[in-house]
Amino acid sequence: MKKNRTEEDVYILAIESSCDETAAAVVKNGREVLSNVISSQIALHTLYGGVVPEIASRKHIEKINQVIEAALSQASMTLEEMTAIAVTYGPGLVGALLVGVAEAKAIAYGAGKPLVGVHHIEGHVSANFIEHPDLEPPFICLIVSGGHTHLVVVKDYGEFEILGRTRDDAAGEAFDKVARAVGLGYPGGPKVDKAAKEGNPYAVRFPRAKVEKAPYDFSFSGLKSAVLNHINHARMMGEEICVPDLAASFQYAVVDVLVSHTVEAARELGYRRVAMAGGVASNSALRGEMRRACKKAGLELYYPSPVLCTDNGAMIGAAAYYEYINGARSGWDLNAVPNLKLGER
Ligand code: KG4
Ligand code: ZN
Repeated sequence: MKKNRTEEDVYILAIESSCDETAAAVVKNGREVLSNVISSQIALHTLYGGVVPEIASRKHIEKINQVIEAALSQASMTLEEMTAIAVTYGPGLVGALLVGVAEAKAIAYGAGKPLVGVHHIEGHVSANFIEHPDLEPPFICLIVSGGHTHLVVVKDYGEFEILGRTRDDAAGEAFDKVARAVGLGYPGGPKVDKAAKEGNPYAVRFPRAKVEKAPYDFSFSGLKSAVLNHINHARMMGEEICVPDLAASFQYAVVDVLVSHTVEAARELGYRRVAMAGGVASNSALRGEMRRACKKAGLELYYPSPVLCTDNGAMIGAAAYYEYINGARSGWDLNAVPNLKLGER
């Protein structure tokens, strides 16, 4: 709900369509979410075992106007009352991104509002600002999504120093692939998370990859292969696979590496605050283990509510606010950049 407006208040209508969620939100002054509407395509893509880019784009086109109207109406605000229009322009699926970018440009141009292109990953990191008014840079952030795994120092709003990244699969990608291999289906992360609750994380000892001379880098393809080998071996021997034990053991191997790298980086570099971002940050074991490790190391830990970890418009509105007050404006030639790197504009 809208609250007593002052001249300086900044209201941002933010649009997100980089993958399989069509989302829009109204965010006040970067940290107050007035509405956050998400239309998920998960049910549709489940039929195919993963996101089908062409279907995603088509669905975004169908839904985007409704989602934006709902976001404005739930915030009890009009387009005219918005200070700026923000949109994710990369990274992501090019056709999916283009729907949001074209829509945002048309709305901003038509309403005479400034346009702010937002980096999707900067959005994920900024989701932390929404529920934690005390959180300000600098801090260490572990970014774990379906397409990205980065360990960074958030030096300032929108300013990142990359400490480490995955050399192969992203953490979420590993969850999705393992889920498919054991027949849990799409989207894999939440299904592995749920199955693992009934399993023994010590049932199978899977490898934890270390990348030589890059202590903060990650690698998950060896782990994924180890899980696939384990499944194939069991099948060949006619042994039954205990899905909960396998899910818990795989998840423990991922979580172990994510937590140890993050806490080690905070300790080595002298940061007291640690945050997590991205879809995998909603994983219950990761949240639990990171909480335990941070407490032990005397670090303060922040993470968004699950709905703000996975793709949403509010996080884009939060990131856009800091871009906007720093003077960032996009031109009418703003384009989708599917492989936009972190720290690039
Ligand atoms: O951040 P996100 O919504 O989209 C990208 O930007 O990629 O992340 C989606 C990823 C998927 O791989 C999904 O399986 C994973 O996050 N994920 C999870 C959980 N919820 C979503 N992984 C592990 N545990 C979860 N609870
Ligand atoms: Zn995302």
